This record gives sequence, C-alpha cells and structure tokens, in this order.
Amino acid sequence: MIVSRLTVLAGAAAILVACTAEGPRGADAVPVAFDGAYASGAARIAHGARLSDVLGCTSCHGVGLTGGNYADDPDGELIFASNLTRSIEGWSDGEVEALLRTGVHPRRDQLYYMPSKSLQRLSAADMGALIAYLRALEPTGRDWPAPREGAGMQALVRMGVLDTSRGAVEAYRLNPAPGMGEELALGRYVASVTCAECHGPDLRGQSPGAPGFQHMDAYSAEELSRLLEDGVTRGGDAHGMMALVARREMSALTDDERAAVVAYVRALAAAE
Ligand code: HEC
Ligand code: HEC
Repeated sequence: MIVSRLTVLAGAAAILVACTAEGPRGADAVPVAFDGAYASGAARIAHGARLSDVLGCTSCHGVGLTGGNYADDPDGELIFASNLTRSIEGWSDGEVEALLRTGVHPRRDQLYYMPSKSLQRLSAADMGALIAYLRALEPTGRDWPAPREGAGMQALVRMGVLDTSRGAVEAYRLNPAPGMGEELALGRYVASVTCAECHGPDLRGQSPGAPGFQHMDAYSAEELSRLLEDGVTRGGDAHGMMALVARREMSALTDDERAAVVAYVRALAAAE
C-alpha cells in the first residue's frame, strides 16, 4: 500500500468534517522553467524523473510509478493510483498533456484527484521532459481498476477528500500567483506549480489547513529552507502534510530553485 497524501488528507478531513506559468519573460526570453528543462537526450529524461518527484507523481503513484491501492481502506478500493508505466501506452503525447493540464481523461468521463489545477502551469519544456520520462519507463506491474463510482465516491468528493481533476482547473487559471517582478519569476513559477496545489491558486491559503503565504512573515529564509529540505517547521515539528511533502517532493528541488521559492514566499509575506 502506498502511504498516501490522501491518507493524511482523509485524517484531516475526518477531524475538520465539514471543512472541506508564467509566460515568456520578454519577447525573446526563454520561458521560466525548472533547472535543466532545456537539456536534451539522457539529461532531459533525468530532468523528467526529477520532476516526477518534485510534482508529486511518485508521492501518489508510488516510487516506481506503478500505482496501487490508494486508500487506507483495503475493502473499499474506491480509487487506485494508476500504473503510469503501463497506462499511457497507446496514448498520444497530446492526450497525456491534455490530461495533465485539464484533468480530462482521454478514455473515460471522469478522472479524480489528479492535481491538474496546478499542473496546467507547467512550462512547455518541463512538460515535454516529464512526458519523455514517462515514455522511457519500462512497463511493469499490473493495471488497476477504474474508480468505483457510487455513493461512497460521492461522499468523499463532498467531504473534499477527493476532487474531480478538472474541478478546480478554471479557478486556478483565473487566479494566478501574484507576480513579484522579474527577479522572483523562478520562485513564483516553482510555487505556482508545487505549493499552489495545497496552498491555493494564488497562495492565499486553502482548506484543509494549508495556510496563506501572506501569513508566513515569522519564517526566516533559513527556517523556510530547512522546512522544504527536511520538513521541520520553525516550531521544531516534523509531522503532518508539510513534512511528508518536503521529504518526498520538495527535497528534490535544486538549491537554486529552493532559494528562489524561499525568496518569493518571503516577498509575499513582506508585501502584506
Ligand atoms: C495527489 C495525488 C496525485 C498526484 C500528485 C499525481 N497523481 Fe496522477 N493520478 C492520481 C490518481 C488517484 C489517479 C487515478 C484517478 C482515477 O482513476 O480517476 C491518477 C491518474 C493519472 C493518470 C491517468 C492514467 C490512466 O491510466 O487513466 C495519469 C497519466 C497520471 N495520473 C499522471 C500523473 C503524473 C505525470 C503526475 C505528476 C506530474 C501525477 N499523475 C501526479 C493521483 C495523483
Ligand atoms: C500536498 C500539499 C502541500 C504542498 C504541495 C505544500 N504544502 Fe505547505 N503545507 C501544507 C499543509 C496541509 C500545511 C499545514 C501544516 C501541515 O499539515 O503540515 C502546510 C504548512 C506550510 C507552512 C507552515 C508550517 C508551520 O506549521 O509552521 C509553510 C511555511 C509551508 N507549508 C510552505 C510551503 C511551500 C513554500 C510549499 C511549496 C514549495 C508548500 N508548502 C507545499 C500542504 C502543502
């Protein structure tokens, strides 16, 4: 079983119950992207592999991206994380990209829990490297059943534990993370495609429990950097969603990307 971000979220939802890309910099400039996005050959595939950690693909689909049971409920089996080493065989790159950016599945009506809302902000170069990496994976493991539609699924969607992948795409498109100038463009980009998944489209916070970046003025650059590297908060805690995300995802940021996102978060906090 994959100890999932869903498991953590389901816990939070049970407690809360009812709670529930940056474009070209200038006319000729290269669009903002993660470090290494413009590599070619094997280095481009390696960049896609790193992105699969940074963007949480491995966090939800498992380290080998072979997917599996996604809930802490062995009898429920309402939803599985797909086996990405097998599932996109026969799909065009355009179909994979459309699924990632719009949450629309090319072969069935509904798709749940894919964070297309923030993935739509991925630069073209990063998207290309990610798909190239998926294509390079050796097909292995088994296919998993499609989600079991019905009352159980609807209840999870109502509680905000699961969402339809296309649900928040429009809201995220309409509410970009604030621009803070050229210097902070990389930090804004990294935050837009990673942190925004949980901290809200414009990083002003989102339930369940992810605080707005405008309230993070208590964090020094060193404290933020440590949080992103190993999940330890300034209070010394290392548990909860942020610890999981830091260890599995944000620890794969380059030093440069981490410094950029820290500078951007601090600028947002200082602007309020
Ligand atoms: C928050 C958890 C989560 C994250 C992060 C995530 N996925 Fe998914 N993904 C899922 C789940 C769950 C499904 C199955 C949804 C369904 O069956 O409706 C899925 C389905 C898919 C599918 C459809 C496969 C098929 O056979 O139908 C693709 C492709 C996919 N994910 C790619 C990715 C990639 C690439 C990334 C990283 C950029 C990623 N996912 C990140 C949870 C996640
Ligand atoms: C998968 C969801 C998710 C992602 C992605 C995520 N966070 Fe969080 N973050 C949370 C949640 C939920 C909390 C509330 C505390 C907790 O549960 O850990 C939180 C708390 C925080 C805190 C406050 C920690 C404290 O309690 O003192 C900071 C700072 C923070 N996040 C920064 C970031 C930054 C910067 C990024 C992107 C680089 C990011 N987060 C990405 C979910 C996420």
